[in-house]
Amino acid sequence: MVHFTVNGQSVTVDAPDDTPFLWVLRDKLGLMGTKFGCGIAQCGACTVHQDGIAIRSCVTQLSDLEGAEITTIEGLSETGEHPLQQAWVEEQVPQCGYCQSGQIMQAAQLLDEVENPTDDDIDNYMSGNLCRCMAYIRIRKAIKRAAQIQTGGQIQTGGQNHD
Ligand code: FES
Ligand code: FES
Repeated sequence: MVHFTVNGQSVTVDAPDDTPFLWVLRDKLGLMGTKFGCGIAQCGACTVHQDGIAIRSCVTQLSDLEGAEITTIEGLSETGEHPLQQAWVEEQVPQCGYCQSGQIMQAAQLLDEVENPTDDDIDNYMSGNLCRCMAYIRIRKAIKRAAQIQTGGQIQTGGQNHD
């Protein structure tokens, strides 16, 4: 038995220690927003937060989660109005949408660490999150827009931008 919280709810999961956490989220907890892409930590589709840090749930074993606080895309905001979610809508980022929850969860940690990320910050931080639809330019725009929303709509200054 492994005990942890997911989006603020306590859960107990009875499964083999080496069960990939992505399987637990989708098959046992019914949280289908987190996606399977590669299963080997190479695409970012399965990104969630463990104690505030973006992790790849496909290569995280259930046994590593005892006592952890997990946030998935479903829990990023109670209302669906996290600045990134607002910006994603404004910039019409998704195409097929498959990679998007992972992109947003990775970007959420970026904005926790860097208030006004530059293009280079974004490219470096997001480089492990792949998008087969090549939505990278819209993703970058949306992250910068979310940073503006998060800082009260201020226009960013400084840093290097390539738009
Ligand atoms: S499914 Fe986890 S990184 Fe690709
Ligand atoms: S929107 Fe289709 S894979 Fe990214």
